[in-house]
Amino acid sequence: FFFFFLLNSILWYLAKLSSVGSIRDEETCERLRGLIQRQVQICKRSVEVMDAVRRGAQLAIDECQFQFRNRRWNCSTLESMPVFGKVVTQGTREAAFVYAISAASVAFAVTRACSSGELEKCGCDHNVHGVSPEGFQWSGCSDNIAYGVAFSQSFVDVRERSKGQSSSRALMNLHNNEAGRKAILSHMRVECKCHGVSGSCEVKTCWKAMPPFRKVGNVIKEKFDGATEVEQRKVGSTKVLVPRNSQFKPHTDEDLVYLDPSPDFCDYDPRTPGMLGTVGRQCNRTSKAIDGCELMCCGRGFQTQEVEVVDRCSCKFHWCCYVKCKQCRKMVEMHTCR
Ligand SMILES: *[C@@H]1O[C@H](CO)[C@@H](O)[C@H](O)[C@H]1NC(C)=O
Ligand SMILES: *[C@@H]1O[C@H](CO)[C@@H](O)[C@H](O)[C@H]1NC(C)=O
Repeated sequence: FFFFFLLNSILWYLAKLSSVGSIRDEETCERLRGLIQRQVQICKRSVEVMDAVRRGAQLAIDECQFQFRNRRWNCSTLESMPVFGKVVTQGTREAAFVYAISAASVAFAVTRACSSGELEKCGCDHNVHGVSPEGFQWSGCSDNIAYGVAFSQSFVDVRERSKGQSSSRALMNLHNNEAGRKAILSHMRVECKCHGVSGSCEVKTCWKAMPPFRKVGNVIKEKFDGATEVEQRKVGSTKVLVPRNSQFKPHTDEDLVYLDPSPDFCDYDPRTPGMLGTVGRQCNRTSKAIDGCELMCCGRGFQTQEVEVVDRCSCKFHWCCYVKCKQCRKMVEMHTCR
């Protein structure tokens, strides 16, 4: 029963994916652990895209750890267990974040690979061309986000679809996957370059580009903070997710949804991988937010140590062209949870 949970975890397979050296041939697809059969088939059919998927998995893990660095659950991965632990295999808000960031990261990394010319199946988006209403010339290489999104939809979502779309968990995961991809789609930007005598911008060429992945992470983290608790309801013959509290306005395609309340993440639980507790975590004595010692340490109190940090200081600019700094040592107080 427990192991079923582990195998079910999207994160476990992301960690496995990101830890293989590189994915070059169909044989590697067979050896990848954690993929379901349908994913192995996609892997074999699209081997050349899989290395981008692997980089996407790593991107997802790194971004998750960055966004949650100051929270009780800090997205820590485990060696032999599902990467973010069982916690996220439940229908929690944290799971919603991880599904969204994973689906987004695969779309992002595949799109990047298309633009960089490393794939035969896709390249730049040439549907964007001609002169824009604003008078600039579309050209260069617009990011082929449609291809990346479609690949993410087939490869990432197939895990839920194969389970039958009617379970509330599958509905939740599919919704959050889509919301993650929307975080890229709705923040596409136009980047331009000027041509002309000494940068006079007589001719301007522009292209559509994805936002930096940090921006995507920030957007999804905001959606995490405002996530909607939902429950499954039958409308006619289809099942849908509706807000549990009917006074709340319905969520949009871009919002995250979750089914189960999160645990408090205060204590270490050996039976639940990823439930590390907050003993030993660094906290901020003056903050009233979740990174503050009061909340981070769950009222257990904290220890204070003087630690020496080495910093760059008295930096001087030297002609030409480098900056030279001294190394300064100073003592700072560091607080860690009991
Ligand atoms: C998360 O916190 C645990 C302690 O609870 C710590 O051991 C681990 O290094 C942290 N992970 C990251 C990625 O910061
Ligand atoms: C601690 O929290 C305060 C108030 O939120 C903030 O101004 C300060 O920069 C934080 N310190 C560190 C080391 O993060």
